[in-house]
Amino acid sequence: MKKKRIAVLTSGGDAPGMNAAIRAAVRKALSDKFEVVGVFRGYEGLMHGDFKRLNLDSVAGIINKGGTMLKSARSELFKTPEGLAAAVRQVRENDIDAVVVIGGDGSMAGARKLSAAGIPTLVIPGTIDGDMPGTEYTLGFDTALNTILEAANKIRDTASSHERIAVIEVMGRHSGNLALQAGLACGAEAILVPEVPFDIGKVCAGLIRSYHRGKQHSILMVAEGAGKGAKIAEEIAARTAFSPNVTVLGYIQRGGNPSAMDNIVGSRMGAFAVDCITRGEVDRLVAMQSGAIVAVPYETAIAQKAAFDLPLHELAGVLGM
Ligand code: ADP
Ligand code: F6P
Repeated sequence: MKKKRIAVLTSGGDAPGMNAAIRAAVRKALSDKFEVVGVFRGYEGLMHGDFKRLNLDSVAGIINKGGTMLKSARSELFKTPEGLAAAVRQVRENDIDAVVVIGGDGSMAGARKLSAAGIPTLVIPGTIDGDMPGTEYTLGFDTALNTILEAANKIRDTASSHERIAVIEVMGRHSGNLALQAGLACGAEAILVPEVPFDIGKVCAGLIRSYHRGKQHSILMVAEGAGKGAKIAEEIAARTAFSPNVTVLGYIQRGGNPSAMDNIVGSRMGAFAVDCITRGEVDRLVAMQSGAIVAVPYETAIAQKAAFDLPLHELAGVLGM
């Protein structure tokens, strides 16, 4: 009987923990007597047949590495009917029975198109943004959180020495989840996120109050979706006697050795995706809900708005005073 053949690809913004998911999907699939094909460069590679058969050793020595051994890509061509058709053709010509996509919400939109075209897919949530609907966990978020915390602690040292305000701009695209949790973790005096409108005048008044209470420095955590850190700093300088320094953390947040949690959850999700294929539970998001790994049909997942923890933001405001 023909062996089932599974393809694995990583797509969109890369994230620490993707390699753990790849490794687990490959080794679980081989253990369950599937064949495995690695697709390089996300949907670009899927359209162009950039495939390689993978074995147990193909994924040796990658779990401790950030990034993705399969490379990733963003592809406007795949969003076109011609691009999708090319991908479907490659899947069929290479006798691939299911495609495991590791990526963010954009990649999930692409996987849904493949499913609609008759290609069974599963999505493993992989993005540092922590902004995917239907799941409380996305691979990379925890590592990025710890990267930001480590950087913020270093920035706090110099802000304290020079009694300055430090503005730290973090990634997250349109989500404030990374900024919120990083701000809470480092004890930021204020956290600006796109989900909560803010008045820069009130932010300045809070900073002045803290200063008069004897705070030697303050940290302002700014999600990129809420604004540019440099612009926020200019607005503070124009309204107060402060001259904030600005750090845009940028791509350091996307790399680094994955955290234990990202590797553990990545391994659980990668293996779970293979079990879903065995059970015929495809066209689903491999999600974490209440700590359990579950398979959520795409339509159900996207109907659940990506969560933003407003009470946590309010708590951060109380604790940061
Ligand atoms: P992420 O998956 O990290 O959110 P992107 O939003 O860039 O990253 O999406 C990754 C890729 O998924 C895109 O470059 C594109 O190839 C594909 N994609 C995104 N949105 C769609 C869509 N609506 N239809 C088809 N493919 C899409
Ligand atoms: O989606 C992950 C992410 O790092 C976002 O936080 C950020 O806004 C975006 O990717 C950057 O996109 P690119 O890697 O294309 O510069």
